[in-house]
Amino acid sequence: MIREVLRMGDPRLLRVAQPVTAFATPQLAELLRDMRDTMAHLDGAGLAAPQIGVDLRVVIFGCQSNPRYPDAPPVPETVLINPVLTPFGEEEEEGWEGCLSVPGLRGWVPRWKRLYYAGHDESGRRFERRVEGFHARVVQHECDHLDGILYPMRVRDFRRFGFTDVLNLSDVVEE
Ligand code: NI
Repeated sequence: MIREVLRMGDPRLLRVAQPVTAFATPQLAELLRDMRDTMAHLDGAGLAAPQIGVDLRVVIFGCQSNPRYPDAPPVPETVLINPVLTPFGEEEEEGWEGCLSVPGLRGWVPRWKRLYYAGHDESGRRFERRVEGFHARVVQHECDHLDGILYPMRVRDFRRFGFTDVLNLSDVVEE
């Protein structure tokens, strides 16, 4: 079912979400179905459970060819539950981001360039990956939602924050 995506200003987006304690349940399957439906409906590259008002540490992301991000490299379709992110090296990279909870806007956001992430899939199986670039950016953006952080909170130069249809975007964006 396509769910309403909460927009910035809603206090539910500012909560620190709760860990998932039961896997492979009908409730978790339904949540993931709703998240996938909602993300697909809006052509998003990712979605976090708090964005549909669900206070759990669950994110999904992935994109093959996304019309909103034609230049973005593919990211595998992933369900990531109770994630732990560990930067690998000190290097940061800046890039344009958008968010389904901040519609119509883009900002220039610094992120760790490389990181490990670990977590569980919907069956409870633990997995980990080492990623960089756009994939690393998407994971950081989505997992920030689990700690009540929206990308505008990370923008350092507000001259590079504005409406998508006004900005001259020459770089990759996300979500
Ligand atoms: Ni977002």
